[in-house]
Amino acid sequence: MREINGLKLRTEVLEKGRVRDKTLLDIGAGPLGIIAARDFNCKVVSIDISREKLREVKKEAAREGIKGIRCELEDATNLSYKDNKFDVVVSYGVLHHIPLDKREKFVHEAYRVAKEKVIIAEYTAVGFNLAHPGGEYKAVCLEWLEGELKSLGRVERYTGREMNIYICFKSKNVTHKNPTMKESQTTEFKKSLAERKEIIENYRFYNA
Ligand SMILES: C[S@@+](CC[C@H](N)C(=O)[O-])C[C@H]1O[C@@H](n2cnc3c(N)ncnc32)[C@H](O)[C@@H]1O
Repeated sequence: MREINGLKLRTEVLEKGRVRDKTLLDIGAGPLGIIAARDFNCKVVSIDISREKLREVKKEAAREGIKGIRCELEDATNLSYKDNKFDVVVSYGVLHHIPLDKREKFVHEAYRVAKEKVIIAEYTAVGFNLAHPGGEYKAVCLEWLEGELKSLGRVERYTGREMNIYICFKSKNVTHKNPTMKESQTTEFKKSLAERKEIIENYRFYNA
């Protein structure tokens, strides 16, 4: 994968997410977790579905003498952690690696294990084409992502040329077992669900 604005962009994500001194789950192991432990004093658990990737991050952390990071083999669409386990859950450039039919589960799992907020940084069309010109993955429909996060909590959005950052704040009085179902009882939700379906259909059409 071609690096876009590399480490600077990851630092910006962590700054905007105000992660200093937090416990942090980093979904999709890479430099972001190392930066969080080294420069933001986070206690990081970096997870990945690839043992190879975890080995790389462990090696790099050892090389830099960073103590505050642990690597664990996990599938982000089916996490073994209990609800509210981490102050912050962050995913930087991972969602487009997830098959379309598992992306909703990914977002809900991240939300479930977060206590305060979920940060998702994902490519815009420009960034995606620069990073993955070969067409091996499907770009994330950012309108859909924002809608999905808004169905869970208040969302702050930062738009960039190559990446957007979404921060979803967890609301204290929502039960986390199945937030979508819970909200489905409201007219507001049904309206947003219809809008989301339309967005997803359009997305499929454009990507067909
Ligand atoms: C672009 S990399 C992540 C970059 C990293 N966040 C960084 O700071 O550079 C995407 C990672 O997501 C991982 N991944 C893909 N599917 C996954 C899943 N279901 N659960 C956990 N990790 C997954 C891939 O193995 C890959 O290492």
